[in-house]
Amino acid sequence: MPTVTVAVANDHAGLPLKALVLDEIRGLGFVPLDLGTNDGASVDYPDFGRAAASAVASGRAQRAVIICGTGIGISMAANRHAGVRAAVCHDSSTARLARQHNDANVLALGARIIGPEVARDCVRTFLTTDFEGGRHGPRVAKLA
Ligand code: RB5
Repeated sequence: MPTVTVAVANDHAGLPLKALVLDEIRGLGFVPLDLGTNDGASVDYPDFGRAAASAVASGRAQRAVIICGTGIGISMAANRHAGVRAAVCHDSSTARLARQHNDANVLALGARIIGPEVARDCVRTFLTTDFEGGRHGPRVAKLA
């Protein structure tokens, strides 16, 4: 199986979820690429959304998980990059549908919104669910 690299980036508010996200990625057999931040100092979420999006857009990573307080700001930053489709997910259903219908390649989580078990479910589902294609293909293509 080819190596699948998953970039992980977060601001200070996202840091509490990071260790379990990295653990879940490794447990699934993927390779995490940690792009920070890794201390509690206040940082700006656009910088970390951009770092993860650049990793995906350049092919350095195939997927990314980005985390801020709500998942909203960091997903807005990531979605400004061509070829990046970031989805804020709150449970395994939104994570599954983001892959099946939207071919999302970046999962955004809100560390102040969801708990650790739900975060694990989101990561696992997002990284193991395929895009359905079919009628969704032309719709996703229009996003570009
Ligand atoms: C940081 O306080 C917080 O605003 C940020 O993590 C995020 O929730 C923004 O969307």
